[in-house]
Amino acid sequence: MQRTVTKAVFPVAGLGTRFLPATKSVPKEIMTLVDRPLIQYAIDEARAAGITEFIFVTSRGKSALEDYFDTAPELEASLNDKGKDDLLEVLQSTNMESGAIAYIRQHKALGLGHAVWCARRLIGDEPFAVMLPDDVIAGDTACLKQMVDAYQETGGCMVAAMEVPPEKASAYGILDVESEDGARVKVKAMVEKPTPGEAPSNLAVIGRYILTPDVMANLDRMKSGAGGEIQLTDAIADEIQAGRGVYGYRFRGQRYDCGSKAGFLQATVAFGLARPDLRDEFSEYLEEMMAVRNAAQ
Ligand code: UTP
Repeated sequence: MQRTVTKAVFPVAGLGTRFLPATKSVPKEIMTLVDRPLIQYAIDEARAAGITEFIFVTSRGKSALEDYFDTAPELEASLNDKGKDDLLEVLQSTNMESGAIAYIRQHKALGLGHAVWCARRLIGDEPFAVMLPDDVIAGDTACLKQMVDAYQETGGCMVAAMEVPPEKASAYGILDVESEDGARVKVKAMVEKPTPGEAPSNLAVIGRYILTPDVMANLDRMKSGAGGEIQLTDAIADEIQAGRGVYGYRFRGQRYDCGSKAGFLQATVAFGLARPDLRDEFSEYLEEMMAVRNAAQ
């Protein structure tokens, strides 16, 4: 069984309705935390985990994403002429090697499972990662790298897991845990968006997965799940039914839900404060804001 993971699927074909009206013309993945688009954080994390092939599942209106990963020869020449080497370096760090990126269209937003299934021919018979760029994870070791290392030992499918407050469980896929071994948990069942009070645990799946090609086969015969969408969780849960191992991995790091407005704002503050060039001015401003707010209360 092959345990090297070199391919990652980035499903970015969703409608992004929570960010309307911006997402009417700007793909959510291009929206920036400080000065880097969400997708750049995901790509950097994937590279740190050893990923060399990047498969984007896109939809109509996402051409800005393709342009972002193209080279920008005029811009590079202009920065070069002006001797702006630091900016040139920033720009060039986003260039992707020719042939490293593939784009597949999901013609209808039928759900995350369906989006992943659209990449089946490019995945073939290999394990692969799935990364949702909405989930931005800050930490010392890239989350996907932690998972790839753990996967070398377990094989099977692995999902990133984190604890959520019980009242938030119905917004996530939730794990029913069979046993725990350090950061790793063996999963005996998974429930997508359980009705309140029916979650089997408070361990939620977030947007990082390592999946076996069997999951593509499961998606092949998939029916609609929760919310009428083809759910990736259901196709992973089928692996448990088939007697194959599915694991959750409690990653180290801070996850921001940048698919929601509150999460996006929190990430903006955290990443702004983490930037040496902005930290002082920005924290001073935040302190002033809080003082004004407290005085008004
Ligand atoms: P979300 O559930 O966040 O949906 O999808 P969304 O469309 O992006 O955003 P909202 O809820 O309307 O604001 C989670 C991930 O799955 C992808 C999305 O692009 C996002 O990365 N996805 C979802 C697809 O690629 N295709 C789908 O049919 C559904």
